[in-house]
Amino acid sequence: MENIIASAVSQVGDPGHEAAPRRSPPGSFVIFGGGGDLTRRLLLPAIYNLACAGLLDDGFGVVAVDRAELTDAQLQRNVRAALEDFAARRGAEAVTLREDVWAWMQPRIRYVRGDFESMQTYQDIAATVGEQNCIFYLAVAARFFGPIVDRLGETGLVREGRHTFRRVIVEKPFGSDLPSAVALNERLLHTLTEQQIYRIDHYLGKETVQNILALRFSNGFFEPLWNRQNIDHVQITAAETVGVEQRAKFYEGTGALRDMVPNHVMQLLAMTAMEAPISFDADAVRNEKTKVLDAIHPLLPQDVVRGQYAPGVVCGREVPGYRQEPGVDPHSLTETYMAMKFQIDNWRWAGVPFYVRTGKRLAARKTEIAIHFKSAPYALFRDTPVEKLAPNIMVIHIQPTEGVTMQFSAKIPGPSVRLGGVRMKFDYAEWFSEGPSTGYETLIYDCMIGDATLFQRADNIEAGWRAVQPVLDWGQDARSLDFYAAGSEGPEAADALLARDHRHWLKIG
Ligand code: BG6
Repeated sequence: MENIIASAVSQVGDPGHEAAPRRSPPGSFVIFGGGGDLTRRLLLPAIYNLACAGLLDDGFGVVAVDRAELTDAQLQRNVRAALEDFAARRGAEAVTLREDVWAWMQPRIRYVRGDFESMQTYQDIAATVGEQNCIFYLAVAARFFGPIVDRLGETGLVREGRHTFRRVIVEKPFGSDLPSAVALNERLLHTLTEQQIYRIDHYLGKETVQNILALRFSNGFFEPLWNRQNIDHVQITAAETVGVEQRAKFYEGTGALRDMVPNHVMQLLAMTAMEAPISFDADAVRNEKTKVLDAIHPLLPQDVVRGQYAPGVVCGREVPGYRQEPGVDPHSLTETYMAMKFQIDNWRWAGVPFYVRTGKRLAARKTEIAIHFKSAPYALFRDTPVEKLAPNIMVIHIQPTEGVTMQFSAKIPGPSVRLGGVRMKFDYAEWFSEGPSTGYETLIYDCMIGDATLFQRADNIEAGWRAVQPVLDWGQDARSLDFYAAGSEGPEAADALLARDHRHWLKIG
């Protein structure tokens, strides 16, 4: 994390002298689920990008573990096809795979076939990796997390040497509610130390999410305003245009709340609301995140809206409702949208609502944090009707555009004093020539160098679940579900949630 912030700052202050990040230590990157979709679409392209950037040691290797019958050569061919596909998708100019990088990578990719529960698999892995450093990446269904870590422990694969590390990266979903997350933490900590566990949230791999801390804490002028004296409320939006896609089986039992809120949305909230850490050391940052999540007031039913998409038109295309999607129960009560009003009970934020919303099949794909400042006293501007004064809003755009917008009032040219709303915009792409990335590069590299700042500690995960647990405890019923047309701004009840407080959402589409 430190290296990322240092290099971003150096681009502004001294564009020519960016500090070169060091190479990763040698070792094996063992992927359970090595034949799966996540590995193909994101993990291997991320490793390829790290190789292109010269960040991998010559002693680096990938070991894919899965159940299919494959030889090393077949796997290497599949990986090459996946990388070519990734390279072709990289942007405006057609980019082909770098042959020099592939020549380096190919012999470093090996395959171990085996069942995740069988001891033989782990013996084969041990024979392949030897005494080296190892990262075990659990790119598998959540039900395998516990059994794989148990086996890694039983076969001595996670025993660290005097100079070698053994680390485990755990994908999401980490539990399905607070008790199951606590139980999973206990199970993993039975075998591993907290320092060996890297719980991933891919939102923390996004540059603009990391930038929230850089923005807040490396600029003197935001922090004095970042409190209840100056901020009226905060809106956090994570809107998607995609529907449930091919994931009905997973999503039916999960829903928007579990899928997005305790993890991704809570990360955004924590980074926006946390106190300044005493350093960018992993524990210092994670202490502050947990503290702010622990200060969230228990949710009340009137502060929660659950929605489900009905048929509609998204990006000009007619799409079915959630209940008509293949694999979905036609009477499903699973929510595809959540809106919530969180209150943080601490000195900085008491009385400042944090409204969050997330959903599928909305009007646009947009993830952003909007800080709405309190209005100025209007006395000076008698000729300007109060309701026409533009509120001061700072929007941190996470995706698809990445940047920051400030909205404020300015004098409209002319003989009388009249005000109009104007915008000032910082666009990431205009300032920084970012290489193509999957969002996993920083996370994988940080794990290799032992920097856990962007990973979640056990207490962070549990604090996220604790904040939403009241909603899970109320259970689902038809009364608590509001429908919205696919392609719309979400259910009317979400508008009513803010209207009650004389506020309204920023538009998504
Ligand atoms: C995943 C969820 O964790 O995040 C998906 O399981 C969701 O349902 C995705 O679509 C959103 O991530 P991103 O990076 O596309 O905003």
